[in-house]
Amino acid sequence: MAVDYTVRDGVAVITLDNPPVNGLGHSTRLGIVEGVERARDDASVTAIVITGAGKAFSGGADITEFNTPKATQEPTLHTVIRAVEGSAKPVVAAIHSVAMGGGLELALGAHYRVAAPGAQIALPEVKLGILPGAGGTQRLPRVVGLETALNMIVSGTPVLSEKLAQTALFDRLVEGDLLDEAIRFAKDAGARSGPHPKARERAIEHPNAEGFIQFARNSVAAVAKHFPAPHKCIDAIEAGVKEGFDHGLAFERQCFLALVQTPESRALRHAFFGERAAGKIADVPSNTPVRAIARVGVVGAGTMGGGIAMNFVNAGLPVTLLETSQEALDRGLATIRKNYESQVKKGKLTPAQLDERMALISPTLAYGDLAQADLVIEAVFEELGVKEQVFTKLDEVAKDGAILASNTSTLDIDRIAAFTKRPADVLGMHFFSPANVMKLLEVVRGGKTAKDVLATVMQLAKKIKKTAVVSGVCDGFIGNRMIEQYFRQSLFMVEEGAMPQQIDRAIEAFGFAMGPFRMSDLAGNDISWAIRKRRYAEQPGLHYPRIADRLCETGRFGQKTAAGWYDYQPGERNARPSKFVEDMIVAYSKEQGATRRAISDEEIVGRLVLSLVNEGAKILEEGIASKASDIDMVYLTGYGFPLHRGGPMLYADTIGLYNVERAIRKYAAQQNGDAWKTAARVTGLAAQGKGFNS
Ligand code: 3HC
Ligand code: NAI
Repeated sequence: MAVDYTVRDGVAVITLDNPPVNGLGHSTRLGIVEGVERARDDASVTAIVITGAGKAFSGGADITEFNTPKATQEPTLHTVIRAVEGSAKPVVAAIHSVAMGGGLELALGAHYRVAAPGAQIALPEVKLGILPGAGGTQRLPRVVGLETALNMIVSGTPVLSEKLAQTALFDRLVEGDLLDEAIRFAKDAGARSGPHPKARERAIEHPNAEGFIQFARNSVAAVAKHFPAPHKCIDAIEAGVKEGFDHGLAFERQCFLALVQTPESRALRHAFFGERAAGKIADVPSNTPVRAIARVGVVGAGTMGGGIAMNFVNAGLPVTLLETSQEALDRGLATIRKNYESQVKKGKLTPAQLDERMALISPTLAYGDLAQADLVIEAVFEELGVKEQVFTKLDEVAKDGAILASNTSTLDIDRIAAFTKRPADVLGMHFFSPANVMKLLEVVRGGKTAKDVLATVMQLAKKIKKTAVVSGVCDGFIGNRMIEQYFRQSLFMVEEGAMPQQIDRAIEAFGFAMGPFRMSDLAGNDISWAIRKRRYAEQPGLHYPRIADRLCETGRFGQKTAAGWYDYQPGERNARPSKFVEDMIVAYSKEQGATRRAISDEEIVGRLVLSLVNEGAKILEEGIASKASDIDMVYLTGYGFPLHRGGPMLYADTIGLYNVERAIRKYAAQQNGDAWKTAARVTGLAAQGKGFNS
């Protein structure tokens, strides 16, 4: 049973008991209504308390029921809240830990609310592409005021209960035993004659509601370009302000039903569950014991090593940072300090915190100092010989049970593991640059990586606030292996007739944060050049457009040389189309005997995105990624794929794999079509009428 009913001291206690977060699924809703009715019919009961068992009051509506018949099966949340609000016996919500979404809306339907300090209070629906659909946009402004409510609803950000203690949301903040206090409170309320207060009957007071709403509308327009929900939140609040509670409630319902069907909401829900699913590994049970990680070692204090060290320091873990020379060590430390100083300037860190964080770093030139580390991450030059030196040393000095990780972006983790006598303790931890900022962490599982090593690193990733996705061993792992095909297509299209600026514009209009050419200029064109040189040596027969090499031969490495695919004014990041590059491209096409043609934006987007999808499908076939949502999480958190489209694999599902297959067949028949080999997974799923996520 998802709800427990007991009577204590003449007070009915309805306890939501639907782990993990007391989601308001159908059986929970049914249980609440039954509880309220049972209390009504029991003459010995004078009041009702609603609370939650375990780690939440309630996390809100059960998201897994969305778009299923259960979501609308009576009693709906509206019916539940009407039953609570309409109860002649006073209802007290006893809130602790988490009251979110429908959970908070349920509490707003109660006549009184008492809360424990530290409870997270939120209407986070907007983060799922919807709006509060059970009266939240109407009742919250009536109890916490228009401005606070609108900010909470439009941002979805949780606010601690003590911050709202002065508002009419809470009648009392309880330091001691919440349930005891709630029962006492309810008993007192039950002794008073009704009617008991209802949030819906309060007025929304604001000196200039219209002006404030307009201001909010302008602010939202600037930040929520691709998402309809924040705008609808404001519309619903405004409806209540202007036309009263009942009208506002009906309008809110209408918006909710429309938003829950949108592709944006589907994408956001996919990301919500995808993030949590990424942490689940089929053959590594959630109760796998983990190793304790109290001290971390980082080898190499360059671009990546410094950022990696910051992650752990930020989480309060001491880090030993090793370099080959004092000079390199000093440079690395100075960069870390500079990073923290800029956070101090922005007010994100206090000077004292800066000192504390720097004090957690022990710089060293001696491998022996890594002997106490529970985890060592290597971030030295990308050369197998250098990795061999480092891992041989680590094998000598690291303590038994220490986890040895490599941040390599391209090298074979199994070969690196073989440099040690403890391959079961070795895995890849592939951070993204800047490592202290980017959310993505690809955890590369070697052939011999032990399950507890994997479980430990996945848990640690949460501690340092990363989204960790497991990848098998292959060149480029999940993310870079796919992006190579995307870059390859972008170069083919330049050869065939498009200019870099058109390609960037088209894919940015699709929603990517940055097109491939602007991205390449930012990262440095020489980096991908080095990777391509290796590729040519390994696979001499591979058909690869050489235009990017041509560019690099002229020394145009991107922003750092103030010239790349675009021209840059020194010190500026503004990319200006380059006459020099355009001429070079036209000359190159001529050399290749290619007749340049107009390429539509639609073709650009199709070829770029489907190159990701097709490679992603191969990655699934080979078991490099275990589920499509893992690939989507890599692209959403590491590659700027538009969130409102949910990642490449969900996007493919949205357009349908039948259409994906047809488009790939079309591209394969065109110039440079030999780069397209349809993944068997695409063909197979298309034939069954299924998607990657179905
Ligand atoms: N419905 C269904 N499942 C939910 C859920 C919900 N509302 N909230 C959390 N879960 C599940 C998660 O998927 C996860 O499942 P798993 O263990 O199988 O992976 C499990 O609960 C635990 O979740 P977390 O790992 O996120 O646990 P935390 O303790 O870190 O966080 C939380 C708890 C703060 C409640 C967080 O889960 C959260 O933010 N949940 C979403 C809350 C939300 O968006 N509520 C609004 C729902 S929509 C709504 O209410 C509509 C209404 O207006 C009509
Ligand atoms: P970097 O050149 O900025 O830093 C490497 C550092 O390692 C230098 O400071 C160097 O002095 C030090 N070093 C070299 N040999 C050493 C040794 N034997 N012992 C200790 N220190 C040694 O390189 P970067 O960019 O930080 O890359 C490091 C690793 O991270 C590489 O494997 C790279 O492929 C990977 N990586 C790089 C990303 C990036 O965007 N730069 C992204 C993800 C991974």
